[in-house]
Amino acid sequence: MRRPIIAGNWKMYLTPEEGAALAVALAPRAAARADVDVVVCPAMPLLESVGRALAGASLKLGAQNLYPMAEGAFTGEASPKMLVALGCEYCIIGHSERRQYFAEKNAFVNAKVKAALEFDLTPIVCIGETLEEREKKLTFDVVGAQLEGAFEQISAEQAAGIVVAYEPVWAIGTGHTATPEQAQEVHAFIRLKLGRKYGDKTAQAMRLQYGGSVKPDNVDSLMAQPDIDGALVGGASLKVDSFARILNFKR
Ligand code: PGA
Repeated sequence: MRRPIIAGNWKMYLTPEEGAALAVALAPRAAARADVDVVVCPAMPLLESVGRALAGASLKLGAQNLYPMAEGAFTGEASPKMLVALGCEYCIIGHSERRQYFAEKNAFVNAKVKAALEFDLTPIVCIGETLEEREKKLTFDVVGAQLEGAFEQISAEQAAGIVVAYEPVWAIGTGHTATPEQAQEVHAFIRLKLGRKYGDKTAQAMRLQYGGSVKPDNVDSLMAQPDIDGALVGGASLKVDSFARILNFKR
C-alpha cells in the first residue's frame, strides 16, 4: 500500500508570522492523521519561522523551488543545502507557474530533481497540460514528455522515492477541478509510463498526487481513485479548516 501524501503549496502568500501560526494550528491535525504524510511548502522567507514552529512535529516542511547547485554566485537563488539546513524534507520542482512565468524547461527540472536527491530532499515533480494542449488532445504527449524529461538519468532506486504531482494547468487556481475520472486516466498513464521505464514494482511503489483546485468537497472522490495517492493543494491549504478537512479525506 502506498502511503498517502497531502502537501500544501502556500505559493507567495503569508508573512513569516502568519505562516508559523498556520503551521502551529495544523501540526496537531496532521499528527492525528498518522497514516498520511502531510507537508507544507511555504515561500522561502517563511521557511525559517515555519521550520521552527514545526520542530519535532510530524507535519513536514517543504520548499517550492531550489537552484540546482550546492552554492555559488547565483544571486536571488536558494540551494538544496540551504533548504535542508532550514529543515526542509521535500521540494516542489517544476510547478507550472515556474514553467510558465520563469521559462523552466524539462532539462532544468531534471537538474533540480538530481540536486534535490543529492541532498536527500524528496522532489515533488509537477507535470500537467494546458487547456489548449488538452483541447488539441495533446495531454498524454505533453505529460509523457515532461515525465521523461524530469526522470532523465534517474535510477529506479531514486525514482521510487520521488513524488509526481499531476496538475492540469487549467485546473490550478481556477476552481475547475479535473473530474476524478479525468485525473485517474492521466494518473494511470503516468504509472504505466513509469512502469515501462522502471518496472512495475517501482511504479507501483511511487506516489502520484493530483493538484488543481483540490477542495474539502472534492478531495474524497479524487482520493478514491486507484492511482491517486495524494493531493498538492494551493488555495485551500492556506486555511486551517479547509486543509485539515483535506488531510482527513475519506476513501
Ligand atoms: P490550487 O493550486 O489548489 O489553488 O488550484 C494547486 C497548485 O498550484 O499546486
